[in-house]
Amino acid sequence: MSDAFTPVAKLADIPDGGMIQVRLDGTPIGLYRVGERVYAMNDLCTHEEAFLSEGYFDPDELEVECPLHGSCFNVADGSVRILPATKPEITYEVRIEDGEVLVGPPRDPKE
Ligand code: FES
Repeated sequence: MSDAFTPVAKLADIPDGGMIQVRLDGTPIGLYRVGERVYAMNDLCTHEEAFLSEGYFDPDELEVECPLHGSCFNVADGSVRILPATKPEITYEVRIEDGEVLVGPPRDPKE
């Protein structure tokens, strides 16, 4: 994945307080919208095989709950809030320009 920012969706495509999955270079990434802010995080749960964007997002807590076993991740920094997952998720830089959501380089995961 390059260091460039790539347009992946329109802001209007993501419901406020909701999430969608996009693919960037084949990698599934969840986009989480809170007002005019968007957070981007790897979508495959670090515990087993499940997409977090098919789980439950709490925009007030910036937290997504995995649909399979209930692990919770902070979508802003990828950290685990509730087990059984123990490994944090990778998050990405996000920019919004002219209504387009652009995803940039990954950030270091936070333990
Ligand atoms: S697959 Fe996500 S908590 Fe198990």
